[in-house]
Amino acid sequence: MRILLLNGPNLGTLGRRQPEVYGSMTLPQIVDEVRAHAVSRGAEVDAFQSNHEGALIDRLEQLDYDAVIINPGALTHTSYALHDALVACERPVVEVHLSDIYAREPWRRISLIEPVVVGRVIGHGWRGYLEAVDLLLAR
Ligand code: DQA
Repeated sequence: MRILLLNGPNLGTLGRRQPEVYGSMTLPQIVDEVRAHAVSRGAEVDAFQSNHEGALIDRLEQLDYDAVIINPGALTHTSYALHDALVACERPVVEVHLSDIYAREPWRRISLIEPVVVGRVIGHGWRGYLEAVDLLLAR
């Protein structure tokens, strides 16, 4: 299985961005862990991070993957375009959030992509991405 690991705005600064909320691991460190986890289970990971909604959608349009793990950052709460792109890719999608979006500001409780994902891992820190790999492989 080829897994596309997508991270949206402000996730490129993990490690120094509010470590008390998001943890101290950098995104490259997380990607390394996710890749090792996936490879040990016979899957591949292609990782992409962008602060730009359109760049994430352009990456999804390439269709060179079998499944998607996505942490859209704040686009979770705002982007109908990302919702539509995830539907259009016709691949299983797992939504990941490092923090517990239900225990923070009320606006974070709305996920526009929730209706179109096959699974969600919320508030488990960086290990949530590993759980997302396992969710996809268990299908
Ligand atoms: C986040 C939660 C979002 O509300 C926030 O905008 C992020 C990160 C998370 O991983 O907890 O950028 O998706």
